Amino acid sequence: MKKILFGALILGLMSACNSDNITEQHENEATADNVSSGNITARGCASEEVRKVALQNNPELRQKFNELEANTEKFINNKALGKVLADGTIEIPVVVNVLYKTAAENISDARIAEQIAVLNADYSGTNTDATKIPTEFQSVSSGDTKIKFRLVNTVRKATTKTGWSTNDDMKKSAKGGIDATNPTNYLNMWVVSKMTSQGRTILGYATFPESAGLWNDGVVIAAPFFGKTGASSPFNLGRTATHEVGHYLNLRHIWGDANCGNDQVADTPTQTTANYGKPSYPLYNTCSGVQRSVMFMNYMDYVDDAAMFMFSAGQKTRMQSVVDASGARSGLRVY
Ligand code: ARG
Ligand code: ZN
Ligand code: CA
Repeated sequence: MKKILFGALILGLMSACNSDNITEQHENEATADNVSSGNITARGCASEEVRKVALQNNPELRQKFNELEANTEKFINNKALGKVLADGTIEIPVVVNVLYKTAAENISDARIAEQIAVLNADYSGTNTDATKIPTEFQSVSSGDTKIKFRLVNTVRKATTKTGWSTNDDMKKSAKGGIDATNPTNYLNMWVVSKMTSQGRTILGYATFPESAGLWNDGVVIAAPFFGKTGASSPFNLGRTATHEVGHYLNLRHIWGDANCGNDQVADTPTQTTANYGKPSYPLYNTCSGVQRSVMFMNYMDYVDDAAMFMFSAGQKTRMQSVVDASGARSGLRVY
């Protein structure tokens, strides 16, 4: 990067915006800039003209020029792309797409920032309610998942639609939605007024890593459940996004979407079914004759926002495998 900046500096010093290193005749060639008004001559700058001739006559310089432009372009883009931080943390760049009819649905920048902050707290294990993790689960708690999120853009669009479904219309501009921004390299989140699936209101839905880079790849959340301030209790702590991004990073529901199902994570105890509300700990389930205390406080259960506050170490490994350089979502990192 230093090389690029240094190169640009040298080129800048070489440019001819003063008359030091160009002839009077060259300056006069810069016709459009060179307008006289009264006895003041507007400053003409012949840099581009001089460059043009130099580039035409010098293939080596032309090559340098092309490389410099390409590097500059890359530098600008990379600033907005995902990063691998010094400690190995993957910082995922996020684009939030807001579809609104009412002013309330056009959620504020502050609320979006709040949601990103919740994701960063939950995925780093620095959420204040992590202190509530029961002793028996502390040893299998993920702690810092080494996944972070950074908002890089917010796209807003007014719509006349009052409701959406899981048919992905919010991701198609032709259907009144907003097309994803480069889904290979960005986590796209869509915020819509309300959503139903089979006639029932849902909080959100996500695509799994097999959809990486497809036009519909990303996470959708209904505005009342996005962020915290002004959100709808008991889903007003931003945990719908924590849960949906979990799916985006290949986590399954903790009950394995079946009676005593398998979530493919060894350290999350098998449980009979989803839990709702605020269960009281401990809660025992029996599967195949084995009784276990279940981890209903996991983000991938269905409990209220205030009742979920942990990922497991096994879930962390599953998510890390997806954002790894060899993973399905390696596009979220920069090389
Ligand atoms: N029901 C939604 C889903 O199927 C999200 C549940 C999120 N839970 C929450 N407490 N916010 O993915
Ligand atoms: Zn879910
Ligand atoms: Ca399990």
